[in-house]
Amino acid sequence: MTSSIFSSAYRWTAVFLLLTGLSCLFSPAVMVKHENFKRCDQAGFCKRNRQYADDAAAASNSWSAPYSLDPSSINFKDGQLSGTVLKTLKEGEEKVKLPLTVTFLESGVARVTLDEEKRQMGNIVLRGESKARKERYNEAGKWALVGGLEVSTGAALSEKAEQGYMKVFYGEGGKHEAVIQYQPFGIEFKRDGETHIKFNERGLLNVEHWRQKIEKLVEGKKEGEEEKKEEEKREEEPEGEDESTWWDESFGGNTDTKPRGPEAIALDISFPGYEHVFGIPEHATRLSLKSTRGGEGCYNEPYRLYNADVFEYELDSPMTLYGSIPFMQAHRKGSTVGIFWLNGAETWIDVIKTKHTANPLSMGVKGHTDTQTHWISESGLLDVFVFLGPNPQDLARQYGELTGYTAMPQSFAIAYHQCRWNYVTDDDVKDVDRRFDKFNIPYDVIWLDIEYTHEKKYFTWDPLTFANPIKMQKQLDKRERKLVAIIDPHIKNTDNYPVIDEMKKKGLAVKNKDGNDYEGWCWPGSSMWIDCFNPAAMSWWKGLFKYDSFKGTAPNTFIWNDMNEPSVFNGPETTMPKDNLHHDNWEHRDVHNINGMTFHNATYQALIERKKGENRRPFVLTRSFYSGSQRSTAMWTGDNLAEWSHLEASIPMVLNQGISGFPFAGADVGGFFGNPSKELLTRWYQAGIYYPFFRGHAHIDTRRREPYVPGSPYTEIITKALRLRYSLLPAWYTAFHEAHTTGAPIVRPNFYVHPDDELGFAVDDQLYIGSTGLLAKPVTKEGADSVSIYIADDQPYYDYFDYTIYQGAGHHTIAAPLEKIPLLMQGGHIIPRRDRPRRSSGLMIYDPFTLVVVLNKDGSAEGSIYLDDGETFDYQMNAYIHRRFFFDGQRQIMTSTNLNKGRITVKLESYLKAMEKVRVEKIIIVGVPKEWKHKHEVMVAQEGAKESKRRRKAPIEFVEGTGKSANWAVVRDPKISISKGWKIDFATKDEDDHHGHAH
Ligand code: GLC
Repeated sequence: MTSSIFSSAYRWTAVFLLLTGLSCLFSPAVMVKHENFKRCDQAGFCKRNRQYADDAAAASNSWSAPYSLDPSSINFKDGQLSGTVLKTLKEGEEKVKLPLTVTFLESGVARVTLDEEKRQMGNIVLRGESKARKERYNEAGKWALVGGLEVSTGAALSEKAEQGYMKVFYGEGGKHEAVIQYQPFGIEFKRDGETHIKFNERGLLNVEHWRQKIEKLVEGKKEGEEEKKEEEKREEEPEGEDESTWWDESFGGNTDTKPRGPEAIALDISFPGYEHVFGIPEHATRLSLKSTRGGEGCYNEPYRLYNADVFEYELDSPMTLYGSIPFMQAHRKGSTVGIFWLNGAETWIDVIKTKHTANPLSMGVKGHTDTQTHWISESGLLDVFVFLGPNPQDLARQYGELTGYTAMPQSFAIAYHQCRWNYVTDDDVKDVDRRFDKFNIPYDVIWLDIEYTHEKKYFTWDPLTFANPIKMQKQLDKRERKLVAIIDPHIKNTDNYPVIDEMKKKGLAVKNKDGNDYEGWCWPGSSMWIDCFNPAAMSWWKGLFKYDSFKGTAPNTFIWNDMNEPSVFNGPETTMPKDNLHHDNWEHRDVHNINGMTFHNATYQALIERKKGENRRPFVLTRSFYSGSQRSTAMWTGDNLAEWSHLEASIPMVLNQGISGFPFAGADVGGFFGNPSKELLTRWYQAGIYYPFFRGHAHIDTRRREPYVPGSPYTEIITKALRLRYSLLPAWYTAFHEAHTTGAPIVRPNFYVHPDDELGFAVDDQLYIGSTGLLAKPVTKEGADSVSIYIADDQPYYDYFDYTIYQGAGHHTIAAPLEKIPLLMQGGHIIPRRDRPRRSSGLMIYDPFTLVVVLNKDGSAEGSIYLDDGETFDYQMNAYIHRRFFFDGQRQIMTSTNLNKGRITVKLESYLKAMEKVRVEKIIIVGVPKEWKHKHEVMVAQEGAKESKRRRKAPIEFVEGTGKSANWAVVRDPKISISKGWKIDFATKDEDDHHGHAH
């Protein structure tokens, strides 16, 4: 039994236990099965390239990197440089030609690609009658990129003739500079004259060129065989090279036939002067990435990107997980830069940090750290985008321009989701739904895991347990609630199942290396996998979701795509063999990390086209992802454990998703495997309200744990947390809109908000919500009754609930008994919320707003709100409300001004009409001076009001703080609308006469 089969057997055992009602016997093991997943030295190309790095380091100054750019080949035209990089093999041998392009984009980003001429021309021979494509995979961009590719017309070659290199100036005002060195080939990227990124500084560029296999004569073979060997035309084997991993590789009982032999690409990329690098999800690691070449507190393995179903994954590890985003950013005070390594194949990344201590002899020479990285991919083009910042917001925007911004979700999608494996019948679902109501707990979505299907055949319902799904959904619909049903990419290979019949007949499944439908094992047993790289498969898939095709679904049904790495229980590393073939005969090896995205893209399209004329934003959750997945889905961090450590690990993971362009992220609340204690469950809800994607989920063998299950006081405390999420939904929705239009993360780490605060760069256990100034520090330790929160600046921060003031950069202790959610408001913001408790977010759409004005040290504050119908695409026709609120501390005037600068459309008019009566019912001002106790009224003026009503008085009430807690004031019902312009004058005459201005 191979190890990977063992893991699937384990799953099957789990399912069996449920079916036989013996679920209590299940107790999850807590260790990942390391032997199921490769280490670098078990992946030939990684081992070879790490060895290459070691050899280079050992040779030190005498290392001569064998790549040079042929100066006579260089051509620079219209913002693009092209040329040929030559790889020297042995003296006297023909050099390998590698076509190079360096493209300078209008956005200030540069793109470097390197291909292999022989393969570009298809001038190679594949081994073993393989049907695979001969080119290096060059379609990753087709899936990942959606824009930002306008070539810069302003990019210019330096006029000065240089020896041995050339310079190109590009970016706004020519601030960016690429210094391209010929021998050895390398590029330095500079901003304002200073080097920020270096390619091939260490000489680790390596393009494993195609070569023919030389069949070695095995000793003792007969003469005839030797003759046969002589007949073959072949290249010489370079002396001393270790060929053992070139031609085929076995792991876990599976042999990869590698018809193209070795073909890795690798490059070292250095960030001089940068101590922190972030990004390259998905790993269960800290936000600031550790180094990977050993040493105290460091990893010994590179970060791996090879989407995989890692059973019971371990924490604090560079091991691969379910998704990949090969985007890394380096950060230091005053600068953020980054690279995006566009490659869909298995990739490993070494990170090395070198500390340079301050020189005591030369005053002013500060110590610093350099970070060097080494990127190694198994196949494909070398294709790298270079971002020169200068700040985290620029990176978010530029990476987003290339790969797309996060989709604007329906408003229900950012409320609370209730899932478990499984709600077992339609009655069960209805019962859970009723209980939420009974306990007055808000929720928006209930989920169905795989057991709803008839024998794991997707697009069917179990006729015994889900006899009437439509009726079930009608009940949900009464409270504007939704259903999400799971649909996985493995299609059961069985008789009497039209879906598999059609998929086979139309030839839409992934093929094995021989070109036959690939068969493997997953939840249904024997299965085949839809190949969404194939446009025909995509169209067919879309048809399956039409209401008359997937019967039992309704407009409030949405989809969960799981197991799309793809997970194959009996496959190598629980996935597909690399020599499998996809559409156009690309090998699975080339596209593995993109595979999951093609599947959820197809599902997203399917939901858009479910019914002609339907205008509803889809919701799709995916487990596997790649750069670009943010355009259509939300993600979650897969099968975590109901343990405190997993709660803790979820925060940096979700933060990392945010700064890596895929911010709609969350972790299973409560932990997937195992039964959380009531305390852990409660704390997890209190943390989960800060995940952009907020879903409770549990393994089939766990006990029920819906929020009403744990009982008093836990249920009340959890309900309070849920209510907090619901009341802040307007702030969350505004943050989503910002992500959707600028690429900004939804929850933000300290460095993103305070990019110059060196002490806070590695802080990853607290988060800011959008631009609201809300700073949360979830409790992730058992028995904790306080947390230490890090404040980066000298603004006042106020406790969200009682306005206790925390001020001064550094750590502050906040009491956090079980019922307390540590949440601060940074001075200077205006936070929109809705305070009326409802059963679902859909019931809140016409509720009035509360604005919380949190004054900064100058007595001012600003904020914004974005609102639309929360459901359709009408916002794309300007049907939205977007307003800026400003409290001017000098003049003591608060205003609402319009940020929707779009054309006035019919859709906008009707949306505004629908929202006309929606008021701001309350304005709370936190941190007001005590002089405000003399204020009794404010003057309110709203645009469009009748002359007589243009200026009205509204009462204001002052509440004195304790000293530790701030003074605050409240204006109740100022009779202003959320959609209109208005002005509130707090410096009323009455007060002016007696006390003058407070500030
Ligand atoms: C996978 C998913 C998990 C789901 C289960 C059954 O393990 O990660 O969330 O419940 O499959 O579909």
